[in-house]
Amino acid sequence: MKISIINGPNLNLLGVREPGIYGRQRFEDFLIDLREKYPGVDIDYFQSNVEGELVTELQRVGFSYDGILLNAAAYTHTSVAIGDAVSAITTPVIEIHISNVAAREEYRLRSLIAAKSVGSIAGLGLKGYELGLRYFL
Ligand code: DQA
Repeated sequence: MKISIINGPNLNLLGVREPGIYGRQRFEDFLIDLREKYPGVDIDYFQSNVEGELVTELQRVGFSYDGILLNAAAYTHTSVAIGDAVSAITTPVIEIHISNVAAREEYRLRSLIAAKSVGSIAGLGLKGYELGLRYFL
């Protein structure tokens, strides 16, 4: 099974960035644990702060992988291009948010990805990525 994790802008700063909201763990460390826990799953990881690079990665993995865990971060709320890419590909996408976006600023309530995804997980911290992976399993 091939799963792709795609993270958007500022998620390269996990562990450092607003730890009260996003926690203290670096994503790279979380990924080591996740890969150890699911040795039978091929887990790809891509992070970019650039909108077009996220679209390109969705297109690259989106016709051959078994599932995509997408945290488009702030682009969730603004990017027609990323929403269109999720519609265009055939691999199912789960939208992930580390924080509970429903309990934050109003502009975070809108997602241009949610309706095109099989489902959304928010507010459960990094655990949300593992839960998404388990869904695909
Ligand atoms: C986020 C929530 C977004 O609103 C925010 O812009 C992020 C991270 C989350 O994982 O909680 O950068 O996607």
